[in-house]
Amino acid sequence: MQKKFNIAFLTSGKSRGSNFENVVKYIFENHLPIIPKFLVVTKIDAPIIQKAKRNNVKYILLPNKKNFENELLNLLSKYEINLIVLAGFMRKLSSEFLQSFNGKIINIHPALLPKHGGKGMYGMRVHKIVFENREKFSGATVHFVNEKYDDGKILFQKKISIGHLKSPEEIAHSVLKIEHEIYPKVIEKLAYQFLGKN
Ligand code: GRF
Repeated sequence: MQKKFNIAFLTSGKSRGSNFENVVKYIFENHLPIIPKFLVVTKIDAPIIQKAKRNNVKYILLPNKKNFENELLNLLSKYEINLIVLAGFMRKLSSEFLQSFNGKIINIHPALLPKHGGKGMYGMRVHKIVFENREKFSGATVHFVNEKYDDGKILFQKKISIGHLKSPEEIAHSVLKIEHEIYPKVIEKLAYQFLGKN
């Protein structure tokens, strides 16, 4: 049997789930050797759950902050997860957790890191600052996760011109398109790197 690359998605709060759904669709439509094993949510009323249901991805509720990492580690080993994909996950993972997980963790950030990252820099906050600064460019960055917010090694970044855009909302719209373009491709590349070696 062909070896597969097992991935798990992490989100928190009332996650919208557009990246999650976009990645899952890309995997299924292209018949990639990647299995989206499960999605973790921290709130039962998160809109992303509907997206998990309609794409037949198992979702698991882990609401308890205290046991979150231990429960997650058990799931990661039970489902033999090779890669964790953060998709709107707002918590910081501890260095103990990062050391215990025998795989890689990636995140996507809606700006050109190392600019506009760090604590409190998420969602529309990022785009408002980019707009107020009259930046000529923005984009999206996929990076490995370490114990600091938005700080791990950059895997891929795509830059777009935004000088002509008239609001933070317009920037958000353009950047999200870029996120949807690059995140699945980075995951595909990591999968083939892993499968080539194993
Ligand atoms: C995205 O903008 C991503 O860059 C950030 O969280 C947001 C999640 O959006 N990490 P969605 O839930 O994927 O639509």
